[in-house]
Amino acid sequence: MSIEHAVDAPAPGDAAAKAVNRGVAPVTYGQGERPPRGDYSAARADYTCDQHWAAYTPEEHALYRRLHERQSAQLPGLACDEFIRAVAQLGAADRIPRFDALSEALHRRTRWEVVAVPGLIPEEAFFALLANRRFPVTVWLRRPEEFDYIVEPDVFHDLFGHVPLLFDPVFADYMQAYGAGGLKASRLDACELLARLYWYTVEFGLIRTPQGVRAYGAGILSSAGELRHSVTSSLPSRVPFRLERIMRTRYKIDSYQATYFVIDSFQQLFDATAPDFTPIYRAIRQQPEIEAGAVLPGEERIPPA
Ligand code: PHE
Ligand code: CO
Repeated sequence: MSIEHAVDAPAPGDAAAKAVNRGVAPVTYGQGERPPRGDYSAARADYTCDQHWAAYTPEEHALYRRLHERQSAQLPGLACDEFIRAVAQLGAADRIPRFDALSEALHRRTRWEVVAVPGLIPEEAFFALLANRRFPVTVWLRRPEEFDYIVEPDVFHDLFGHVPLLFDPVFADYMQAYGAGGLKASRLDACELLARLYWYTVEFGLIRTPQGVRAYGAGILSSAGELRHSVTSSLPSRVPFRLERIMRTRYKIDSYQATYFVIDSFQQLFDATAPDFTPIYRAIRQQPEIEAGAVLPGEERIPPA
């Protein structure tokens, strides 16, 4: 889902990690209280691995098909058009897609490709892949009992949620710029601020359309319940996208978001994030954080669809 939980992992070249792993150091969700789910022993130094498509079981393909069906049925009226149009590009909906075939189609359109990873990866490795137009997709699928909810990103979230918008030229360029910006934020010790931008756009973003707000964030679009909630419920706040406001705003990792930020277009998102963030990070650090559900005085409230 996102990268800010990729904590506690030594850098890929770390000698201690090499001693206990033939591949790369595993990355766990949260503070490492649970064992990592992926097999990191076969990953390369850039954290990519082989998909081993033939190893998926018939039950896994069937579970993917059920997830795909449930989510696709909800898209009309809730997902943005760019997403709906591109879902068909993922290939046959009845089995887990082959990453190599998908990459070929994607590369023809926007010069992006998808690469397999064992699960969460450290943020620098993640940024480096994005900066090179390579989107990391987790190889494993959730278990049947996680049909409705899963904490960590799996192949369904990563593929169904993220890959369709990589077919959109402007959004595709935004993702690459984010990767490059991430490498820079690492040097500036500003990853926490930048992660909020990822969270409130790439994962939980809404977009205004003539028909009303629609979802474009992957965390929403791969969620059974949050898709309808984010677009139609009157409970959460929906406010216009503002870069500095987002960087100051905390977020929820264990419930639906209390606030959604609404862009007018992918071009607006790209243009608003193009300036050098160095002075922006410096300014944000001087300002108080904003609670996840807070609405600021004078802030426009955008109605549900
Ligand atoms: N403009 C940002 C910077 O200079 C980089 C960036 C672009 C970050 C797009 C996120 C998204 O740091
Ligand atoms: Co995600």
